[in-house]
Amino acid sequence: MEKDIAKIIINEEQIRNKLLELAKTLVHDYKGKEWTIIAILNGSLVFLADLIRLIPFPIRLDTIDATTYGESTFPKAETKVIRQFKIDIEDKHVLVIDDIIDTGNTMERVLEDIGKYNPKTLKSCVLLNRVSRRRYNIHPEYCCFDIGDDFVVGYGLDYNNKYRNLPFIAVLKDECYRARVL
Ligand code: IMP
Ligand code: MG
Repeated sequence: MEKDIAKIIINEEQIRNKLLELAKTLVHDYKGKEWTIIAILNGSLVFLADLIRLIPFPIRLDTIDATTYGESTFPKAETKVIRQFKIDIEDKHVLVIDDIIDTGNTMERVLEDIGKYNPKTLKSCVLLNRVSRRRYNIHPEYCCFDIGDDFVVGYGLDYNNKYRNLPFIAVLKDECYRARVL
């Protein structure tokens, strides 16, 4: 994998430090509440796993699947929400976690859907925020890093289902992006 990387844009130490900061904020905001995390798979998997282990009290957790890109680096119009969450969220404090908000399509649809089940509060939390391609007026309440236009991989984010297991966020060499349209 190393040979495919053009540059590392966020390293492991930067991620760790931000997560510690984020966990502190979340503990402050959700302590004593019935806190329910709904994570959007697969991209949020690594972020989720590291983040929840920094939370020192019980949380409720469920996941949903949403697919957009496949072999492209450009979002298709529709996000498919493949699997719905299974736990009761009525009157709960719900936090939706994803790897990145790009156009905002995925988060917009997921929040709209979850909102129908009457959570007490509903907020979003992402590792990365790319505002340059935003198509929906959506702002995550919690965000670790703002990034630019480059399509990134690692720490859960994939290109064509690969590179999720890189421990940092990186940009691949041009020749690695088969259907690059950025
Ligand atoms: P949105 O619906 O356009 O906001 O896109 C959100 C989803 O697209 C995220 O959950 C990611 O899975 C994926 N995505 C967006 N940008 C990137 C990227 O730079 N690398 C990998 N996946 C991305
Ligand atoms: Mg995703």
